[in-house]
Amino acid sequence: MGLLIGLCYDLKADNLKAGCSASEVMEFDNEDTIIGLEAALFQLGHQVERVGNGRELALRLAKGDRWDLVFNIAEGLKGRSREAQVPAVCELFAQPYTFSDPLTCALTLDKALTKMVVRDRGFLTAPFEVVSTTAEATAVSLPMPVFLKPVAEGSSKGITGHSLVKEREELVNTYQLLRQLFQQSVLVETFLPGREVTIGIIGNGSNSRVVGVMEVIFTGQAEAFAYTTLNKDEYLERVSYRLLIDPEPLAAQARHLALDIYHTLGCRDAARVDLRCDASGVLQFMEVNPLPGLDYIRSDLVIMGRLGGVTYTEIIAEILESAWQRYKC
Ligand SMILES: Nc1ncnc2c1ncn2[C@@H]1O[C@H](COP(=O)(O)OP(=O)(O)O)[C@@H](O)[C@H]1O
Ligand SMILES: [Mg+2]
Repeated sequence: MGLLIGLCYDLKADNLKAGCSASEVMEFDNEDTIIGLEAALFQLGHQVERVGNGRELALRLAKGDRWDLVFNIAEGLKGRSREAQVPAVCELFAQPYTFSDPLTCALTLDKALTKMVVRDRGFLTAPFEVVSTTAEATAVSLPMPVFLKPVAEGSSKGITGHSLVKEREELVNTYQLLRQLFQQSVLVETFLPGREVTIGIIGNGSNSRVVGVMEVIFTGQAEAFAYTTLNKDEYLERVSYRLLIDPEPLAAQARHLALDIYHTLGCRDAARVDLRCDASGVLQFMEVNPLPGLDYIRSDLVIMGRLGGVTYTEIIAEILESAWQRYKC
């Protein structure tokens, strides 16, 4: 059945035009991504209207406009609850929408709070401290090496070759750099030296399924043994990807862990869970992305679909169907 779909997004170009810096728009989408998503939705027989960002959506909803479903990939511009803004506005106006609710979207943008919830439920995650002052950075009691990242960013923002810190003095410098660049607390975690996997999940309740467990392998060209901004930008040269399948033990472990965490955090329709092994090869939770990137070529969820024979349009169809079923019940 053809639906009327409102597309919500934050475009890089719009926000650059409005005066944002390149760093501020890093998480946002390119025009190409929107064109690809629109094309898939058309191909599935739906009508698509570009609504735009959260404010544009709010204005339209206040005027009384409605869509069968809002397909939301807007990351939001300001504040640590920014990913929750479109979901919250949709709920305010009883507008059906894709993906997780405001609580999940707000929680998961804060990596430290998410780790606390996940840890409280008995899942493993690297020991960490949240640092907000130079004095706190100096007093970090975790053993070296540690890994530093802004506490509430995504898309590898603030992840560079400097994120891995081996000396205490380096820690204070890197903290100050991140603090200055991102104006927020810094998450200091025990460095996880092992293999890295990202797991794509689509669906709800007992219909949730793992699209793939994808190992992220850093090649000789990678700037560091981490998914940094540069490694992601130039992934064709710097990263290789491999689907982990049974009977490789890590595949089943990652699949079960990611699904359990997806449900624990109340994720809906789709998400991507990032895990990495500690020195003993045991998987640890890093973060979850309830608004996984959906570029038809570059995004991890789409790459793992491609490796497993699932097309972009099939992924979009499954997400849409999951969301639609929630409202039909
Ligand atoms: N504690 C850690 N130890 C080792 N590498 C890490 C650690 N935390 C993050 N990384 C690396 O940094 C990348 C980005 O971190 P992540 O928490 O997934 O943030 P985001 O993807 O939102 O930028 C990870 O994919 C991983 O390569
Ligand atoms: Mg990540």
